[in-house]
Amino acid sequence: MTETPIDPVPVVEIARLGQHIGEEVRIQGWVYNLRESGKLLFPLFRDGTGLLQAVVFQKNVSPELFAQVRSLTQESSIHARGVVRADQRAPGGVELDLHVLTVLQLVPASDPYPISPKEHGIDFLMDHRHLWLRSQRQAAILRVRHQVIRAVRDFFDNEGYVLADAPILTPAACEGTSTLFEVQYFDDKAFLTQSGQLYAEAAAMALGKTYCFGPTFRAEKSKTRRHLTEFWMVEPETAFAQLDDIMHLAEKLVTAVVARVLEHCRNELKTLERNPAPLEAIQLPFPRISYDEALSRIQTAGSEMKWGDDLGGGDETLLSKQFDRPVMVHRYPASAKAFYMQPDPERPEVALCVDMLAPEGYGEIVGGSQRIHDLNLLRQRLEEHHLAEADFRWYLDLRRWGSVPHGGFGMGIERVVAWICGLEHIRETIPFPRTIYRIFP
Ligand code: 4AD
Ligand code: MG
Repeated sequence: MTETPIDPVPVVEIARLGQHIGEEVRIQGWVYNLRESGKLLFPLFRDGTGLLQAVVFQKNVSPELFAQVRSLTQESSIHARGVVRADQRAPGGVELDLHVLTVLQLVPASDPYPISPKEHGIDFLMDHRHLWLRSQRQAAILRVRHQVIRAVRDFFDNEGYVLADAPILTPAACEGTSTLFEVQYFDDKAFLTQSGQLYAEAAAMALGKTYCFGPTFRAEKSKTRRHLTEFWMVEPETAFAQLDDIMHLAEKLVTAVVARVLEHCRNELKTLERNPAPLEAIQLPFPRISYDEALSRIQTAGSEMKWGDDLGGGDETLLSKQFDRPVMVHRYPASAKAFYMQPDPERPEVALCVDMLAPEGYGEIVGGSQRIHDLNLLRQRLEEHHLAEADFRWYLDLRRWGSVPHGGFGMGIERVVAWICGLEHIRETIPFPRTIYRIFP
């Protein structure tokens, strides 16, 4: 490692070089690529904000600098100094006339960076996820994810929701006992949370409008392109809210998230070759159809689904392809859903719940419901679901003292990012994915 010398020339991020045309600047980053054309060298640098092509003309620089640039290897870390020049053909619209190069670490030619520009298999890339993140495509996805999360937090803040996070270590199930990760908790057992919802309900009785936002865990043995075992979920919960209020909040949230990405991530969508047109069509209101109508549409489209079944991934795709924006399916058979859902008073065999399905076959992005607020009914449901009342003592207390109708939903961040980015598989939407097959790196 070479000590970095003190240099009076300012460091500028590559994304901001357009504001420094004609100026001498320094950039700090990594070598992405090196092209050579006779007496010209074109090193391509990246710094996390963008890509920059530098130009080194043999007759304008010392033989030492020319040789030094020529020996650069992929992912060597550097400081480069030079003058910024506008050039419409270059990526980002600027080039750098390179004058001085400091190499912090030269990647040895004998041990080259493992991810070359050629194609690699997905297992190889996943094994090297810690390096793969440096690719333009993966960095673009993480930038979109960042904007999605910012949009979510701003949205709830603007709507007057107070953040109150739920614990990750929990004593009991929320979404069903079969998908729990068990952990040793001193002399006892605990579980990694599947959803912060039950705690968010307690917070809603204190704050009125609240949300929690954290990692959640599902030990389902799903091998689909839509399932992670660890994913991030945002869960608003609203006191006095009914199903219509919940649906309206969900459609406003999704619209705000998409609008934010379109505003801030045009370049990223281009890098991902994501057509923005279907995203630009995402406007309020979203279509709302009952489970019964969804079922008949799905059956007409050729599925063998029967009344009472939950929608499978294929069914969701059949249905969502019929709409140009997310569709909200409400009032599923209560028997297909979680224990806490409020039955429809006009038709108790269906629950006051909603799933929002993303367009283009991306499946369920939001799941929510009104919650049972009657103490005796909730007790009865716990029993029917073989859940021990003792584990839910505190949850029942919420119905004992000042119970009100209330509801909320959960939106999975990774599902939303996969849809917005137009990705084949959810595994690219989170820095280090956890799936049934993978917990490394
Ligand atoms: O429909 P789910 O299971 O709902 C709940 O957990 C409720 N307790 C939420 C609530 O009402 N507060 O999950 C909600 C969302 C799904 O719509 C989906 O976007 C995402 O979480 N999700 C997953 N994302 C990635 N991998 C998985 N295995 C997921 N399971 C659910
Ligand atoms: Mg669901």
